Amino acid sequence: MTATAERVERLNRASLKRVIEPDVDLPGALGDGQLMPDELLSTAGLDLDLTVDQRRTLSREEVASMFSAGIRFEAILEMGFARQVAYAPDLTDPRVTYLLHEMGEETRHQRVFARLVSQIDPQASNPLDGKVWVDRLDRFGSGWITRHPAMLYVLVLAGEEIPDRMQKLASEHPDTDPFLAEVNRYHRQEEARHLSFARMMLPEVWAAASRVERTVVRRIAPLVIHDLFRFMVQPGVYAEVGLDAWSTWKRVNRCDNRVQLRRVSTRPVLDAVINAGILQRGAIPQAWQNLCGVDEHGTADEVLPGAGRLLRAE
Ligand SMILES: [Fe+2]
Ligand SMILES: [Fe+2]
Repeated sequence: MTATAERVERLNRASLKRVIEPDVDLPGALGDGQLMPDELLSTAGLDLDLTVDQRRTLSREEVASMFSAGIRFEAILEMGFARQVAYAPDLTDPRVTYLLHEMGEETRHQRVFARLVSQIDPQASNPLDGKVWVDRLDRFGSGWITRHPAMLYVLVLAGEEIPDRMQKLASEHPDTDPFLAEVNRYHRQEEARHLSFARMMLPEVWAAASRVERTVVRRIAPLVIHDLFRFMVQPGVYAEVGLDAWSTWKRVNRCDNRVQLRRVSTRPVLDAVINAGILQRGAIPQAWQNLCGVDEHGTADEVLPGAGRLLRAE
């Protein structure tokens, strides 16, 4: 057995040791109030004068948007993984077993996320919904990604690191809704294994990647990850508190606090990509530099002046 297979075997044992079924093990519910403190709302740092009620609504709509994005993202990951199982040359390979564990864990995450979304009963509608060109692009993009394992694993890392950072900040804050914090802790604990698996797989899938796929990972992946981050909170959320959807969303994504969050949450993805030998220090492509706020060596830029207290401490 190769070294990677042995490490995957250890992850398989870890997944078996504690199977958490959220409908049994996490029976709670969200409270009625503001779910996340002001400093963790996407609008923190914008100097908006929001009432208590607006902040309550915004926090609930943001949480619902993030969990909805999470359910869909995990579904795309499952499409990619299911494809790998369907066409695996050897079904007894420990990697195949792990993919099955991971899909099992993700579907349990999706069920508890859906439970939270239904408790919140969000009212925001996404302005991109029903746009034919967006739908086509989305389906084409996710189809392509699920057929290209190197791109898939880079996006798996991004789709897990970004929520992981957001959930870390929320779950460690005393003013986060207690049940939300509990769900975040449960999710992060299982995602830690998924992140290890994706990091382990990256060198193997990179070795097998075509020239086109390699170019996509170097040039296009950071743009896709940027959108993944920006649409965690979809623009329609802001309209629910009387703000303009798109202009507020653009301001949010330009402000220092949010840009700093994007940088710190995507840097671990870049580190994994460098460690896998995909990118080299000294030659980090511009799009990756922009996404992560680093120079061509991968060295982090200084913390932005408008970044909040929690991000300065990172
Ligand atoms: Fe998950
Ligand atoms: Fe995961």
